[in-house]
Amino acid sequence: MTAELHNGDAVADAVPEICRLENVTMAFGGVKALDDVSLALGAHTGITGIIGPNGAGKSTCLNVVAGARRPTSGRVTVLGQQLTRSATSTKVARRGVARTFQIPRPFAAMSVRENVLVAVQASAPVRMSRAEQAVEELLEQIGLTSVAGQLAGSLALASRKKLEVARAMAIQPRVLLLDEVFEGLSDTEIHEMVTILRGLDARGIRLVLVEHVLRALRQLATELVVFEKGTVIAHGDVEEVLHDSRVQEAYLGFGGAA
Ligand SMILES: Nc1ncnc2c1ncn2[C@@H]1O[C@H](COP(=O)(O)OP(=O)(O)OP(=O)(O)O)[C@@H](O)[C@H]1O
Ligand SMILES: [Mg+2]
Repeated sequence: MTAELHNGDAVADAVPEICRLENVTMAFGGVKALDDVSLALGAHTGITGIIGPNGAGKSTCLNVVAGARRPTSGRVTVLGQQLTRSATSTKVARRGVARTFQIPRPFAAMSVRENVLVAVQASAPVRMSRAEQAVEELLEQIGLTSVAGQLAGSLALASRKKLEVARAMAIQPRVLLLDEVFEGLSDTEIHEMVTILRGLDARGIRLVLVEHVLRALRQLATELVVFEKGTVIAHGDVEEVLHDSRVQEAYLGFGGAA
């Protein structure tokens, strides 16, 4: 896509592109988790999904966008600004990019409420009363009010996943990167998480979902990217991508995902 076309799209949609990777390689020893990837996400409104077999490079893609990993080579641009060599996840978060982790990382010995409070306080210096109010709003919005007093370490998986989302939301992000937020959830819990994420989307938060649970993605995403072995093998409208023969081939032996 040319810069001119890109600008035209941005004006028409009135949204900035979420991120752009240009010739990005991320090598871990001999393994190229991302192999010369060029990709622009979120050029239009709507939720972006990223799928692919285990080890395809999905989490690594989120990590380089979030500033948590510096690519071996290539350029990463987030919300129109190129990440410099000194970019860190803290600096990228300050620009409004939050993320959840594939393996939730709460403070186990603190309550759900305290966990969210720590995240709110870490994001910006605010008066305690204002921070507490923000926490209650987040707990309500993410459906955690009923377990707010419980220790994070004692939560069932669905609540742990919600707590990850609430903690990420504490920075009031413009972009939220979610890594397998539906993993291990029951049908009812998936439905609830879909509703929560729709609510965030409706409030204008740009969502990128790395996900194996295709039935959840199908309900949410408008744009879909497929990674395989560190490369992008398909990118576009969700249903078109899922019907792509190369995508179906990559998913053979990957049963149960649909
Ligand atoms: N910190 C690391 N050190 C060494 N190798 C890594 C590291 N992070 C990722 N890799 C390797 O890079 C490749 C891509 O990993 P990544 O975690 O991005 O995959 P993924 O698509 O998220 O997979 P999954 O669906 O299993 O979460 C894998 O081969 C993985 O072993
Ligand atoms: Mg992963």
